[in-house]
Amino acid sequence: MPIKDLEREYLMTALKIKDEPAAFEYIINLIYQRCGIRLHEGKQELIRARLGKRIRHHGFHSLPDYCDFLQHSADEDEMTQVVDALTTNFTHFLREEDHFKFLVNQALPSLGLGSQKRFKVWSAACATGEEPYSIGFYLSEFFPPSSGWDWSILATDISTKALNKAMQGVYPDDKMDSLPKDWLRKYFKKGVNAWSGYCKVKPVVAERILFRQLNLLGSMDINDSFAVIFCRNVMIYFDRPTQEKLVRQLTRFLVPNGYLLVGHAESLNGLNVPLKCLRPSIYQKTER
Ligand SMILES: C[S@@+](CC[C@H](N)C(=O)[O-])C[C@H]1O[C@@H](n2cnc3c(N)ncnc32)[C@H](O)[C@@H]1O
Repeated sequence: MPIKDLEREYLMTALKIKDEPAAFEYIINLIYQRCGIRLHEGKQELIRARLGKRIRHHGFHSLPDYCDFLQHSADEDEMTQVVDALTTNFTHFLREEDHFKFLVNQALPSLGLGSQKRFKVWSAACATGEEPYSIGFYLSEFFPPSSGWDWSILATDISTKALNKAMQGVYPDDKMDSLPKDWLRKYFKKGVNAWSGYCKVKPVVAERILFRQLNLLGSMDINDSFAVIFCRNVMIYFDRPTQEKLVRQLTRFLVPNGYLLVGHAESLNGLNVPLKCLRPSIYQKTER
């Protein structure tokens, strides 16, 4: 065997992830580096359960064997599968509904955008799409088709699996419970035959939304400014330095006096960021 291969062989054996504690540590570090999410000690069962499918898919018999494969031979697609498996995509239509009311009743009228008739919103960490579609329903109500307003929504998430669902815009009937009945008729098409029991978001809203994969911790190649950014129920998984860095980045993409909405359980208190708190979970940009 050539010397180089011998060296590689030696290194691979030396670095082999041998036991479960080492495997958990590897996964915890991997997810932290890739998504900023801190999976704490108590998440070991979750890691084991969520990666079980990947482990079986590759014919491995243990988590350490799978992690060893991830470390030495896996490609980017496999890493994406790991991120997909370990991110929590829980969401629902009109979640924390006061934010949508704030959007149309206060944010929009206060920004004086009337002369341009353009309004852009970013749903950062949109999961399976219920958040951007909820924004879309509210904006459709606010801007009737004849109003001539050009409004659009950028919807991003790190999870490709969640984004694929979001792009399809197809949801089981029992996910619609929080929506007003007349919105179901206006904004959804009922599935028939094989799709009975499901509804699909109509183009009148779906066409206004651009879905894109984006890691909030990566370089954000976005050439746009937004009147309002929804970044809800994701920062809760990040540590304070990561939150501060992210919020500073997001603020750069807000128009002057634009708004950042975070989850009800999240707070930017104590972070050094150019935003003022209007009320819990609602922030306004202070720098021009
Ligand atoms: C709990 S869901 C929140 C969904 C929605 N914003 C809401 O409030 O209902 C959190 C989402 O954040 C995404 N996420 C986690 N880390 C991320 C990162 N570094 N960049 C972008 N999205 C991320 C996850 O994939 C998941 O879909």
